[in-house]
Amino acid sequence: MAERAIEAVVFDIYGTLFGFGRLAERVRAIVGDLALLEHWRVKQLEHSFLRTILGEYIDFWLLTEEALDAVCAQLELELTAEEREYLLHGWLELEPFPEVRNALELLRERGQRLAVLSNGSPGMLEPLLRHADLDALFEVVLSADAVRRYKPSPAVYALAPAALVVPPEQIAFCSANGFDVAGALRFGFQVCWVNRGSAKLDSLGKQPHFTVHSLLELAEYL
Ligand code: LAC
Repeated sequence: MAERAIEAVVFDIYGTLFGFGRLAERVRAIVGDLALLEHWRVKQLEHSFLRTILGEYIDFWLLTEEALDAVCAQLELELTAEEREYLLHGWLELEPFPEVRNALELLRERGQRLAVLSNGSPGMLEPLLRHADLDALFEVVLSADAVRRYKPSPAVYALAPAALVVPPEQIAFCSANGFDVAGALRFGFQVCWVNRGSAKLDSLGKQPHFTVHSLLELAEYL
């Protein structure tokens, strides 16, 4: 499948390795429905794009807090300080998708080097991976924080070939997020779109090299 031999597999985190089910439970317990969560994630992404365009970086934890406050104001929801903390801390205890551990282990057995490349700050990624007991599977955990801008800025993608010392075309970059697929394609990775449901890809009309429904399928390709 791959045009050139793949030497390393690099993963997006939110929505790709980790789902939002547990965070949804927290949201439902506090506000009763999931509109807040949907708006929160969209606002979080919107702020990451805006702050990158404006050159006004704040780290992803603060940005996520700001996005929650902005959405609560728009929805006219008043959270107590404890509720707000409980929702925010949900980002540190998300659940990996069920096949993730097996797929990562299989990729490693096949000789692939594994890394994470996320907009999340190191202070979010480290506890999340530790909580899920996945931290030992990755050679390196890369955060957009190192370049103080967010994906899809090419400067963020450039962290992976620099850290792994592997050219982009020998890296398989995996993401469930359309904007991230678009950014990674433009950067020059071999790109795998992870579509666990039946979503339609919105990646500015660009086509990924692979589409998989589960990361186990990717492990079979490589
Ligand atoms: C990340 C977001 C974009 O993990 O999902 O970087």
